[in-house]
Amino acid sequence: MPLPHDRIAQLRLELEEHDRRYYVEARPTIGDAEYDALFRELRELEAAHPALITPDSPTQRVGGKATDGFAQVRHAVPMLSLDNLFAKDGLDGLRKWIISVEKLLPGEPLEWLVEPKVDGLAVSLRYEDGRFVTGATRGDGEMGDDITDNLRTIRAIPLHLKDAPAVLEVRGEVYLPIAAFRKICDDMRAAGDEPFANPRNAAAGSLKQLDPATVAKRPLAIILYSPGECSSDLPPTQAAFLAWMAALGFPVPRFQRVCRSAEEVFAAIQELDGVRDSFGFETDGAVIKLNQVALRDRAGYTARFPRWAKAWKYLSEQAETRIRAITVQVGRTGNLTPVAELEPVFLRGSTISRATLHNEDEIRRKDIRIGDAVIIEKAGEVIPAVVRVVLEKRDALAAPFDFLQHIENKCPACGHAPRRDPEFAAWVCENPACPAQKTRRLEYFAKRGALDIEGLGSTVADALVERGIVDDPLDLFTLRLTTLGALNLGTDEEPRTFGEKNAAKVLEGCQRARTMPLARWLHALAITDVGEETAHDLGKYHDTLEAVATSPLLRDVVALDKARADIATLSPRAQINKDKTAMEKTQLATRHAEAIARAEELGARLIASGFAAPSKKADGTAADAVVVVGPSAAAAALAWFASPLGQRTMARLAELGIAPRGGTPAASDSPFSGKTVVLTGTLELMSRNAAQERIRAVGGNVASSVSKKTHYVVAGPGAGSKLEDAQKHGVPVLTEAEFLAMLGSPPLPQKEDGLLL
Ligand code: IVH
Repeated sequence: MPLPHDRIAQLRLELEEHDRRYYVEARPTIGDAEYDALFRELRELEAAHPALITPDSPTQRVGGKATDGFAQVRHAVPMLSLDNLFAKDGLDGLRKWIISVEKLLPGEPLEWLVEPKVDGLAVSLRYEDGRFVTGATRGDGEMGDDITDNLRTIRAIPLHLKDAPAVLEVRGEVYLPIAAFRKICDDMRAAGDEPFANPRNAAAGSLKQLDPATVAKRPLAIILYSPGECSSDLPPTQAAFLAWMAALGFPVPRFQRVCRSAEEVFAAIQELDGVRDSFGFETDGAVIKLNQVALRDRAGYTARFPRWAKAWKYLSEQAETRIRAITVQVGRTGNLTPVAELEPVFLRGSTISRATLHNEDEIRRKDIRIGDAVIIEKAGEVIPAVVRVVLEKRDALAAPFDFLQHIENKCPACGHAPRRDPEFAAWVCENPACPAQKTRRLEYFAKRGALDIEGLGSTVADALVERGIVDDPLDLFTLRLTTLGALNLGTDEEPRTFGEKNAAKVLEGCQRARTMPLARWLHALAITDVGEETAHDLGKYHDTLEAVATSPLLRDVVALDKARADIATLSPRAQINKDKTAMEKTQLATRHAEAIARAEELGARLIASGFAAPSKKADGTAADAVVVVGPSAAAAALAWFASPLGQRTMARLAELGIAPRGGTPAASDSPFSGKTVVLTGTLELMSRNAAQERIRAVGGNVASSVSKKTHYVVAGPGAGSKLEDAQKHGVPVLTEAEFLAMLGSPPLPQKEDGLLL
């Protein structure tokens, strides 16, 4: 047995290397479960030997304490910003600048490096003796916020560098990948929160969180592009600097072009513009830097910018078009959202014919009218938005838009009179039988991340609800193949049937959904205030739906919230109680003390059950425990299960024999634990569902397509392309019998087909 100290050191090295492979190179060499096992081992060793914990351990990425505000740090070398060049000034504008630099450096053949301008938040990372010690925002360029604890949660940031100079500062941009941005916004919407306007705001908002645990939940990323203080000589060129950074384990721009003339720079800028939409993160331009580092100081600086570098701003991602009509969409929870139907225009790679108008207040604020010429913008690649009206082009007869009059005081889907939700400036259709809401709920139920029923998109959902075949998502489980196959997706005049093949795919998806984990079901049921993340948290701490419905944990969370509110209002020192008599104050003091005792007891109980973490505040007590699921989500979940809809749903699930299971599957010593398995061909000894269930039960994952991340393919007769893929990627192929032998299982439950034909 290695000494704990040595094993800890080894585990840290291994985990950091795996972080680098995963987050910097996007080429992991081990699966999540293996990684988790190493991580767990390290955490357990550190728990047993707390003296060996250091802030640069991978376990401490989320170890920072929440703060009331950030300390200030002075940048050893100021963080400069860049002057802009604009696409509208074209090649001429570029030439003018390049000639001006040539004049400053006569006789030198200049090289330029073109790289993307990442749209995020500038930060500086400081390493001393190879250890990440301080991370700061740009601030005013001289002083920034110390956000070390928050930056440490970004797994692409190495905590240690090998062969680094004694002091090394690297600057770069923290950003939120677009896919992560979309998901966060979806979750915020699902939780009833106003989503971030764009990925940049989301990244900035995340980095400025005072609690690193919150930051850790946002999958922030980083790209590094320039040096700060460095105790050794810098490489001679920007290209060599980036190569050095990459060798040290930092993510650097993938797109880099060395150019030797204004024409070459211009061509590189155009090339970048053509590919930047595929990066997966937002870019708002190109940066052009003098490649030769030694010449930079000779070219010099203006008061605010280097003379040797510029930011190139691409043409703005706006376009002008006209609003043909305003339609109103009904959301899953009945929100009525106005949408501008536009004359189609081309904008950054796609044709746009619709833009969201958000809500009634937004339309009023911008005074948007039907027929108006408007400027639209693709903000953060989400749904385009209307920026403003081109008033000069307004038709004299255009009337102000009146939302309620426009919809004739009726939900456009069901005709019910809507109610205005004062909190969100939105009109809401509260008719539970509204077909549009049913459709949205059905789509939500089947979407990826929920129950993932392939083949059930918006068109099919629309048709199912419209034709009265599905009223509630659970109706899917009693659908017959023939009924679904005959579904008319077209009109009565021009019918277009769904077909049995497609129908079979949907029903297979439903079969798979039956055994999906509790977390997915909780997500799919679309409980107000319970988004994907909350659903997963609930699923982890509860075994069954019934357990959530009657959860003592959730009740304690709600009670703790109430006790905390009482503490605030019963305090004899509270502002609201200042005019109370001495007698009343004495009574308040007693009730105040009772509320504190109650909160302490509830907090302690929640901490003991793992459903809350102790407060990190210096003077925090059990009453300040940080709960896993917040009080509004907890209350909403309990209320949903107690409601007639919740009760009906539970009864229905029981009838259908669907009993999703929660809790974390215990790591087992099965050969499939932590491994990804693909099933293909016909399984003859057991149903596919049973096979999937068995794999999941031992802590394995089931995937639908073969990649190099697949650990095993189980192939039955009739296996086709997946078998070829397995051979291509060198993935071991098992027969069903071998698979069973490895599961170590006795002969199996009868193959049950499950589909109602
Ligand atoms: S170089 C002296 N390179 O854009 C060098 N900046 O408008 C200064 N930015 O403050 C920065 N991508 O926050 C540089 N590849 C890149 C960049 C980049 C984004 C940001 C950075 C800077 C701002 C200037």
